[in-house]
Amino acid sequence: MNTTFLRSACQFCIKNLGQRQKGTSSHKWIQRQHKDPYVKRAREENWRCRSAFKLLEIDDKHKLFTPGQLVIDIGAAPGSWTQVACRRTNAAGSDAKLPKGKVISIDLLPIVRVPGAQIIDCTDFTSLECQDKIIELSAGKKADVILSDMAPNASGIKTFDGRILVSLVSKVLKFSVNQLAVNGTVLVKLWHGAGCDELEQVMDKLFDSVKLVKPQASRDDSREIYYLCQKFKGLENSEDNNKI
Ligand SMILES: C[S@@+](CC[C@H](N)C(=O)[O-])C[C@H]1O[C@@H](n2cnc3c(N)ncnc32)[C@H](O)[C@@H]1O
Repeated sequence: MNTTFLRSACQFCIKNLGQRQKGTSSHKWIQRQHKDPYVKRAREENWRCRSAFKLLEIDDKHKLFTPGQLVIDIGAAPGSWTQVACRRTNAAGSDAKLPKGKVISIDLLPIVRVPGAQIIDCTDFTSLECQDKIIELSAGKKADVILSDMAPNASGIKTFDGRILVSLVSKVLKFSVNQLAVNGTVLVKLWHGAGCDELEQVMDKLFDSVKLVKPQASRDDSREIYYLCQKFKGLENSEDNNKI
């Protein structure tokens, strides 16, 4: 048989199969968004995405934020966690009677301005330039709360994606060791799987309290889990820092 014909026939099939699969999964995604009560509430209450409810719930239960705090929000786009952090720390100064907080938000993607937040967008958190910029904006103050909702672009290979996230979160912990105030809080997202236990051991060394939290707004079929690390012990020496 003519090999050129065979090749183009195969390419046609692959292309159409891809489009059919893509079509089905985006249809499912639209249906799920349509039915999701958190998507509806986010629209009504002016949050940029449904993730806001995860942080609101965690804060309501575990009291992360108070007015006047410095918060660093890593992996912040489109910005719903930044909105929550700004509101709960009074970063926009909306209540003149309360201390004014500061929120620094970072993402690889662009972030539309959030009143009260200082934004470092289109920047990779793991780069030295980005971390220097965060330190500069912190103006000599250590953070009270460091959040990471970072998620790498998923390849679909669970263990591979999970490992990349573990590596990103280990960089957040390393950064926190130097930039978090004693008694401060770190909240990070991981995908349950390889590498999480090792990271948990590091967290246990650095914080008095480490809890696994799965807010209701986190979908049941999602592997995401949040580690809430509270009461940072502070490091007298850099020994533990080197183990991260
Ligand atoms: C689930 S979204 C965050 C949603 C956000 N918490 C909100 O409520 O709007 C994950 C974000 O992590 C960002 N991200 C992934 N790797 C990153 C990196 N190395 N540096 C900065 N941001 C990163 C992605 O660009 C993406 O916007």
